[in-house]
Amino acid sequence: MTPSKSAVVEAAEPIKKSSISPADPCTIVIFGASGDLSRRKLVPALYGLAAQNCLARRFAIIGFARSPMTDEVFQQSAVESVKKFADANTLREQECKEFAHALAYVSGDYHQADAFEKLKNRLEELDREHKLNGNRLFYLATPPDIYPIIIDQLDKAGLAKNPNGKSWTRVIIEKPYGRDLASARNLNQTVLKAFDESQVYRIDHYLGKDTVQNLLVLRFGNGIFEPLWNRNYVDHVQITAGETLGVEQRAAFYETAGATRDMIQSHVLQLTSLVAMEPPAAFDATAVRNEKIKVLQSIRPFTPESIETEIVRGQYGPGSEPGDSSVLKGYPDEPGVAKNSITETFVAAKLHIDNWRWAGVPFYLRTGKRLPSRITEIAIQFRRAPHLVFRGQDISANALVLNVQPDEGISISFNAKLPGQEMKLKTVTMDFSYQAEFGGGERSAYATLINDCMRGDATLFDRADGVEAAWALVDPILNYFQSNKPKFPNYAAGTWGPHEADELLERDGRHWRTK
Ligand SMILES: NC(=O)c1ccc[n+]([C@@H]2O[C@H](COP(=O)([O-])OP(=O)(O)OC[C@H]3O[C@@H](n4cnc5c(N)ncnc54)[C@H](OP(=O)(O)O)[C@@H]3O)[C@@H](O)[C@H]2O)c1
Repeated sequence: MTPSKSAVVEAAEPIKKSSISPADPCTIVIFGASGDLSRRKLVPALYGLAAQNCLARRFAIIGFARSPMTDEVFQQSAVESVKKFADANTLREQECKEFAHALAYVSGDYHQADAFEKLKNRLEELDREHKLNGNRLFYLATPPDIYPIIIDQLDKAGLAKNPNGKSWTRVIIEKPYGRDLASARNLNQTVLKAFDESQVYRIDHYLGKDTVQNLLVLRFGNGIFEPLWNRNYVDHVQITAGETLGVEQRAAFYETAGATRDMIQSHVLQLTSLVAMEPPAAFDATAVRNEKIKVLQSIRPFTPESIETEIVRGQYGPGSEPGDSSVLKGYPDEPGVAKNSITETFVAAKLHIDNWRWAGVPFYLRTGKRLPSRITEIAIQFRRAPHLVFRGQDISANALVLNVQPDEGISISFNAKLPGQEMKLKTVTMDFSYQAEFGGGERSAYATLINDCMRGDATLFDRADGVEAAWALVDPILNYFQSNKPKFPNYAAGTWGPHEADELLERDGRHWRTK
């Protein structure tokens, strides 16, 4: 299909007003457009933005991948993804059709310069015909080993620089950003040869979740929490990111990654930085990211000795989820997994943050597959009351818990008197639920972050020094794992990981909250 008016739409009336402001007119190019991420997350997120009038009134989307496809076939598959994966509240037939007309497709081999010439011509046609002001957002959603090739080709085709003084060119790069410190540094070098750091948006979709951003609002938008947010009042912090799913169809990727690369280096350390950071001077990209990186730099580096005592790794064997008798396969029996795989599907770690705020306050992190529940939560466990006047009562210490998923919200636990004559205490909670307070389904983190990028706000994206600081922490753990073979599998599917993970806390007189 020749590029035509159909490749650009004027967005219709908004379905539901969003608090996200509209972005500049632009063309979004998705590399890896035939893939899972594009289908399940990116296209539905872009539809959601268009439906809520958070894209500019004029925009175009170009899918790029090797698979041969016409514009029409890509449009058809986009409509199917939107119907299957977009927020049902925003779905309207007419809007879906109009959105699909904004989509075009270019097929080509990432290694071939002429594919990028074809892309450039298509971009220029759309810019000219539909006055998109030359603004371009490139979204890299291919397997990560293709990122340097795409970056290089964009540079050679003259697409990395802004086409004119008034327009912008930005690039979103998916995780994993490197597979260790050396490869992340190499990738940074390639990226920063073609682009200026201000054009680069390294995405971790966790940061687009409302609850994660709300952590900053909770801490720095309220007067009552921050005075307690330190070693004088906090006993320890627990961060759990658990999945009930196994490796599913992703064995090829997971076998080369494992839980440390897939979860700890990115999501879990991002959450740790947000919990532990100092107040930024402003809520902007430079100030927030400076403070987050300082946290990573304050975490005590791991040595082989500390890894032995403060890190637990695991791999699930056969088992079953609580309340369901069906037997789940162990990781080595999953399709595509080597029988003698030493890939870890579970990690628990104890971190020490060596600064004035957190000295002596351990941060316990835990992530895994095939755990009993899908839950991501951050628990700030406060110290016990200094003197217990209520003798004979089992009094819990207060905890402030942020539920990142699935039920986004915050709860605080405290002790209350049970009704009646006797002085009997019970731990109760006060809960805030996003769903109950604001309604609606889970908002798309991708929509938030794509819109931020279009508006030039990099606050929730990682900087070159941020990813390197995270890899610098994780590298010694990966090296140790590689050279010290474990006895796997060592926990049953449907349980909270190996017993050593419990002992990690029990040795300190503590226990995991969620069991
Ligand atoms: N899926 C998710 O939920 C998710 C979540 C977070 C991060 N990510 C990251 O996002 C990126 C894309 O994920 P995905 O799940 O969409 O991956 P994918 O489906 O495996 O790959 C995306 C597309 O890239 C192209 N591709 C695959 N292998 C290629 C190769 N060797 N050379 C050139 N092109 C190749 C394929 O399109 P053609 O064959 O048509 O070229 C494929 O449709 C990955 O880096 C992933 O780690 C994904």
